[in-house]
Amino acid sequence: MNVPVSRRVHQLTTGIFSELAEKKRAAKALGQDVIDLSIGSPDLPPPAEVQKALVENVKDGSQFGYTLRGLPEFHEAAADFYYRRYGVQVMAETEVLQLMGSQDGLAHLATALLNPEDAVLVPNPGYPIYEASVHISGAQLIPMPLQKENGFLPDLKSLAEQDLSRVKLMILNYPGNPVTALANREFFVELVAFARRHNIVVAHDFAYSELVFDGKRPLSLLSIPGAKEVAVEFNSLSKTFNMAGCRIGYVMGNQHIIGLLGRLKSHIDYGIFEPIQRAGIAALRSSHTVLDRLVQQYEQRRNTLIGGLHEAGWPVPRSEATMFVWAPIPNLVGRQAPWTSREFSFDLLETTGVAVTPGNAFGSLGEGYVRIALVQPEQRLAEAAARINLFLDRARAAK
Ligand SMILES: Cc1ncc(COP(=O)(O)O)c(C=O)c1O
Repeated sequence: MNVPVSRRVHQLTTGIFSELAEKKRAAKALGQDVIDLSIGSPDLPPPAEVQKALVENVKDGSQFGYTLRGLPEFHEAAADFYYRRYGVQVMAETEVLQLMGSQDGLAHLATALLNPEDAVLVPNPGYPIYEASVHISGAQLIPMPLQKENGFLPDLKSLAEQDLSRVKLMILNYPGNPVTALANREFFVELVAFARRHNIVVAHDFAYSELVFDGKRPLSLLSIPGAKEVAVEFNSLSKTFNMAGCRIGYVMGNQHIIGLLGRLKSHIDYGIFEPIQRAGIAALRSSHTVLDRLVQQYEQRRNTLIGGLHEAGWPVPRSEATMFVWAPIPNLVGRQAPWTSREFSFDLLETTGVAVTPGNAFGSLGEGYVRIALVQPEQRLAEAAARINLFLDRARAAK
């Protein structure tokens, strides 16, 4: 039988990520001790009170029905969290929508808002669901370059010189994955003015809102005056509370956009298992010391890895935020041709067992970089840096 494939699914790539998964499997099958720094899935447990809430609620036989739109208490806890952490006020009933992880909302937003003649500005490099969501919706994709010389922020002035008449949505992500940049207030103020002037909805992905280092504070787009007129912001319990497998997150902001996304989702899923929602409430209401400890852990991991890579002669920039390092591939003087992202990642994995993600998995402008995730204990990160040191030494000797 000839199984058909829709044009939309045909556009969804699996390429580099499945190749990487295959290489990791092969390395493990050969008995190699793989240090997997390729996926942003937290290795740390959720706070004890979150686990306790989950266990207690699972024992309650009345919590196994469909939950549909999510518990009002969850929406209130998310609204309170936003006020406490980012000084943002939202109406829990109308300006917050629970999601099965922020991925759920990011995957469906373009479908809720757009038609085939509409276009979306998507960061390049960017987290893959942004591009995929545009293909799923059937709308047009316009890549939006993030350049180092511009602090990895989009150049709004040069965008304004283009024909933006079809652009209805723009997707952004600060602190970013894979590019670990932060946005500043001036940029966000300019962004809100740009969006209002051109009538463009802004979807800001704030999944790494709490993983900000060196005493800096996270900045919510919704804290900018006028942002709620044009924007929604996605957030998640996956990274902030180490609950990635629980699949729980939320989106906040413009009530009309939230309503449309809610309407679409009401046809797709019937809500999150109630004990997970109750564990999510415990997380959102937990003490800030939980978050302070998490930041400290990731900051120490970053220092260990970056310190080790600097000793190996690889001058990788210090990430200011997130659980990643966005590392330009070393250009070894005298090497015949520079490594591509793919060659570097696969050579490194095959010879050392250290798995990192090729930068071009996040778009063409990710070429020349690899993304390294801080998802192993410090001792394993030090071990990874030592193996990378040997790998680079051997490459230098072989050139
Ligand atoms: C930038 C970014 N956004 C969104 C997500 C999705 O997170 P979740 O669906 O677990 O909330 C991730 C996951 O890695 C991410 O890195």
